[in-house]
Amino acid sequence: MNAKIQVGILSAWLMVLPVLQAQPALKQVFKDDFLVGAAVNASQFSGSDQAASLFVARQFDSITPENVLKWENVHPGPGVFDFTQADRYVAFGESHQMAIIGHTLVWHQQTPAWVFHRPDGSDVSAEWLMNCLSNHIFTVVGRYRGRIRGWDVVNEAVGEDGKLRPTPWLRILGPQYLVKAYQWAHEADPHAELYYNDYGIENQPKRDGALTLVRNLLAAHVPLAAVGIQEHVSLNWPAPAQISQTIAAFGSLGVKVNISELDVDVLPPTAVGHSADVGLLLARNPRLNPYPQELPETVQEALARRYGQLFFVYVQNRKSIERVTFWGVNDGDSWLNNWPVPGRRNYPLLFDRHNQPKPAFSNVIASAEKYGLLQKKGSAYDEVANP
Ligand code: GLA
Repeated sequence: MNAKIQVGILSAWLMVLPVLQAQPALKQVFKDDFLVGAAVNASQFSGSDQAASLFVARQFDSITPENVLKWENVHPGPGVFDFTQADRYVAFGESHQMAIIGHTLVWHQQTPAWVFHRPDGSDVSAEWLMNCLSNHIFTVVGRYRGRIRGWDVVNEAVGEDGKLRPTPWLRILGPQYLVKAYQWAHEADPHAELYYNDYGIENQPKRDGALTLVRNLLAAHVPLAAVGIQEHVSLNWPAPAQISQTIAAFGSLGVKVNISELDVDVLPPTAVGHSADVGLLLARNPRLNPYPQELPETVQEALARRYGQLFFVYVQNRKSIERVTFWGVNDGDSWLNNWPVPGRRNYPLLFDRHNQPKPAFSNVIASAEKYGLLQKKGSAYDEVANP
């Protein structure tokens, strides 16, 4: 290691040490309950931001790649694979003995157009697409065989109405692509856990659709380990009971649950979507970006209460939950600063833009303690009641 790198590591440690000493680590607090993960980007896992890497390693015992294992990045052209960043991601997880998650093999987004369309715009043939998908899965899963703990094999295949989402995968291949994708992933790495991942499955029609899909996969002997409930939630949706019911519903089919992409949107919902002139849009509608400097205390408190409530539900259901993963490490990383309207300032995670814990962090810890106390009380009560 050269002197420059040594000095870099040392100064990174000096910067984060006081914070680390004072702060409980999420992975320790929940070590008897579930893994605690974060979606990470290249600066966090490649070592280019040492302080960020140390922070991730200190807080989390699982990682998910925010983007680097998505099709457009690993398989950008026909016959062209690029694993430069994905290799760094996996090496980072291994160097910290983390549960490394693969995300994602089959999705209708962040998949290049050449996968579905010929140069003239027409659909590729079913036969060609089946070969292309099988080649993708065997190449990507095979490369990390024995190193990636589990794969979000299929992402977001169910629509809001509970029917299979009309994606190019379904249009060109029909529903057979689902079972096939899992069979190939299992063949490529028989020890990797396989997951189905989706958002909004706390809502009844979509949940029913996802349950049907899981039943069909299990009936086809797919060894499905867990369903990922993404949990991109707001301050009010979904209600705690909806979350518990969703976890129980998948549990009753014999699969575990991952809370796979947790964040809490604090900005007003909007149907405005992406606009050509975002600066103008935000200037004309300041209500779309109500907290451009900092989060007012009342909203900060509401966020803290919400996180406390969510984690209380998770620890209550800990026997069914394998992992809780945040979609990002701190507020500055979050996709919610740029979606559905680019250029807003959002505050959806437990750590602020300087990796300082927010009141929500304390409430998450408090939920674990509160649940622990209730359990102790319960077992003391049980001992008295059933000596
Ligand atoms: C979906 C995907 C993730 C990520 C998030 C938001 O939930 O599964 O990979 O793209 O949207 O960015």
